[in-house]
Amino acid sequence: MMPSPRNAGSFSAAFSLSIATGLVLAACGERANGPGDAATVDSAADLGAVDAGPERDALGPPDLGNPDSGPVELAANAGESSYAIVGEEVTLDGSGSTGAVAYRWDYGNGERQSAPSDDPVARVVYTSAGRFAATLTVLDEADRTRTDTVVVTVTEPLVWRPRQSSTVSVARDRRTAAVVVPDADLVALVDWDEDGSFRVSRRIAVSAGPRTVAIADDGTVFVACQRAGTLDVTSLDGAPTRSIALGRGTRPFGVVATSGGGFAAALGGTGELVIGDGGGVTARWPDLPDARGVAELPDGRIAVTRWRSTDDGATLTVVDPDRPDARESWSLAVDPQAGSDTEIGGVPSYLHQLLVSPDGMRAFVPSLQAATGEGLFRSGRPMTFETTVRAVVSRIDLRTGVEDFEARKQLDNHGFASAGVLSSHGDFLFVALRGTRAVERIDTFDGSSSGNLQNVGWAVEGVALSADDRFLLVDASLSRELVVYDVRDLSDLPEPVARLPTVESEPLSADVLMGKRLFNDSLDPRLSRDGYIACAHCHLDGETDNRVWDFTDRGEGLRNTISLLGRAGAGDGPIHWSGNFDEIQDFEHDIRNAFRGLGLMADADFHTGSRDSTLGDPKAGVSADLDALAAYVASLDEDPESPHRTAGGELSESAARGRSLFESAAVGCASCHAGARLTDSRFVASGMPLLHDVGTLGPGSGMRLGATLSGIDTPTLHDLWLTAPYLHDGSAATLEDVLTTRNPDDLHGTTSGLTAEQIADLVAYLLSL
Ligand code: HEC
Ligand code: HEC
Repeated sequence: MMPSPRNAGSFSAAFSLSIATGLVLAACGERANGPGDAATVDSAADLGAVDAGPERDALGPPDLGNPDSGPVELAANAGESSYAIVGEEVTLDGSGSTGAVAYRWDYGNGERQSAPSDDPVARVVYTSAGRFAATLTVLDEADRTRTDTVVVTVTEPLVWRPRQSSTVSVARDRRTAAVVVPDADLVALVDWDEDGSFRVSRRIAVSAGPRTVAIADDGTVFVACQRAGTLDVTSLDGAPTRSIALGRGTRPFGVVATSGGGFAAALGGTGELVIGDGGGVTARWPDLPDARGVAELPDGRIAVTRWRSTDDGATLTVVDPDRPDARESWSLAVDPQAGSDTEIGGVPSYLHQLLVSPDGMRAFVPSLQAATGEGLFRSGRPMTFETTVRAVVSRIDLRTGVEDFEARKQLDNHGFASAGVLSSHGDFLFVALRGTRAVERIDTFDGSSSGNLQNVGWAVEGVALSADDRFLLVDASLSRELVVYDVRDLSDLPEPVARLPTVESEPLSADVLMGKRLFNDSLDPRLSRDGYIACAHCHLDGETDNRVWDFTDRGEGLRNTISLLGRAGAGDGPIHWSGNFDEIQDFEHDIRNAFRGLGLMADADFHTGSRDSTLGDPKAGVSADLDALAAYVASLDEDPESPHRTAGGELSESAARGRSLFESAAVGCASCHAGARLTDSRFVASGMPLLHDVGTLGPGSGMRLGATLSGIDTPTLHDLWLTAPYLHDGSAATLEDVLTTRNPDDLHGTTSGLTAEQIADLVAYLLSL
């Protein structure tokens, strides 16, 4: 619950101060409480003794006499806060002080002037990066003193203006931004003028499922359209939109406008990076599984994040466009610690971005840490609402590509850090917290939290800053708003300066939109406790996180997350591997038990009849919100197109042979994987699903509803190309494994007699579904 000691660096512990530009730094992640524009030191252990800001000066101790009648009142003025580069001479100017005869500067770096002098100006060179609170003490003839503090933020030389894929992107040299609306297949353009009045200037229709947008320096706009499999190219100046077809099932996600004027895009479906220009794709790199976010590095290389991590660690791959064979792999380590209320172990996953610091020396990766080590079977510890997932930000040293593991920051009471943006000096990182509808500002020098924005809107997908760092543009995707904050002063929780509607008319029906908001939210206490768990944190966009969770404490066992796409809610019959739910409204049980939410349904309704058992009286029709959640899950009735088919959607020759085998009585798959959905899943008696023991039950398989697990509910075989690992407990890494090593006794179809080529044909068919 409290920020970890590891994250509260010694520097942050010493400071809680506001600076003259109005940026407020707080030591421990809580809202900063200083006055917006005053230079007050209020808790610095080593400075506290001389604590006296301008406001207290104004009050004046009694021995000063009446300021109106006496000589000029003694007041310290340390000048404006500023930025400097390491090794550069900084001028500290106290000449705005009044009534002083002598001045003495403490530079905030452990050094100070040896004695007071009559010169208000001091010059200092800071030899390391950091945020330094320089304190001016002024004295009058009677040796009375006043102090004032100014912050000098010292960075390494700024060599790079970051370029990373994002749902919202700001043009470099104009006051224009673009944001994608995936549900409405459009990009909204937003303009603002010098005094900060914002408006939506245009909405551009693009291909299906736009996920990220990048504005090139010449005003070209690149949009990665996931569902359509295209990269759309349009322009701020109203040029017509063109589509570059990337191929069936490519599922492009991240796109960045490179410094050379072209684009680089990550194709999640086929695991590729493509680079090109307005004319089309010029080069492709394969073998980048689950490619998601893209960033250009200062040396011209392109980094690609792997969206969902394996249990071995998170990966980013760095590709050099000039040396096609050279690639580097960077990783974020698995944290081995046991989960507690303050920190959890596990693997950072859901990597959407790499945020390169303008000094070119480090980069940050927002993510969701999935606690892969928790669970009754695995560790003896049941998973809890606060030890399952947690928002984390990792830091990589760009010179070596190595993570600074100790600097990984865990954000308390947040489940998922979905995106971020660095200030132009790289001294602050704004992190979007998707489920908790918030943005947190982190001081990158020490990792401390230094202010936040709350109640931004539903499902925060992206953030971007205006070039002058004044405005933060937040993509509250399910509020259908781009929410703008003036972030020069976070001392009082700022209210938005604008909420810009991204759509003209809502593309979803009211109940599906409501359900989608609930599915993606972890802030509503009815859904989860302390902000950690949202349905989307394991099923982002209705997909699977490709993880195996230990649900033994729920009366089940090791369970491989199931994709919801194409399943249309309860469209494939009994729900879950063990068929323990019969309607989506039964997730009320998970909400109340595992997530520790208060429940969407009123307690009295929940405890009516046998409604409070999952296969008891129906829950549909009792709670409008629960029905809305079910309506959203039911709306996921579309299977993503498989890239393992021909461009026209036909089976390859191998897959066609595989289908014949699949449908043959001798191999016998179709007896259970029957009909259009390839499953015989159904209830055979009240509360009793049809389960088959196909020889796959193992020690971690656990139970069904706390009792014996006699078999598994036949799963659909659609989308297998997207959903490795396989089987209820994830015990098959590949489809070959399902058919061979995990089927030694022919209990799961008759496969032992098949040749390697026939197995390959079957697999080709399964991948094409
Ligand atoms: C901690 C990760 C996690 C969270 C959070 C989570 N799920 Fe799941 N989901 C899983 C796993 C694992 C499975 C497979 C479990 C099983 O079969 O017993 C699953 C299966 C499902 C299925 C079954 C699909 C099918 O066809 O059988 C649905 C529907 C579903 N989840 C919906 C939800 C909803 C709605 C929420 C939020 C109320 C939610 N999930 C939250 C991990 C999660
Ligand atoms: C007796 C019924 C039955 C037959 C016959 C059968 N299956 Fe299955 N299949 C199942 C069940 C039940 C599961 C779930 C097993 C588990 O998760 O442990 C399953 C799981 C699978 C999976 C993994 C799905 C996933 O999402 O992880 C694949 C792939 C699969 N079957 C393919 C086949 C093929 C190919 C054949 C023919 C060689 C076949 N099955 C024959 C019932 C059957």
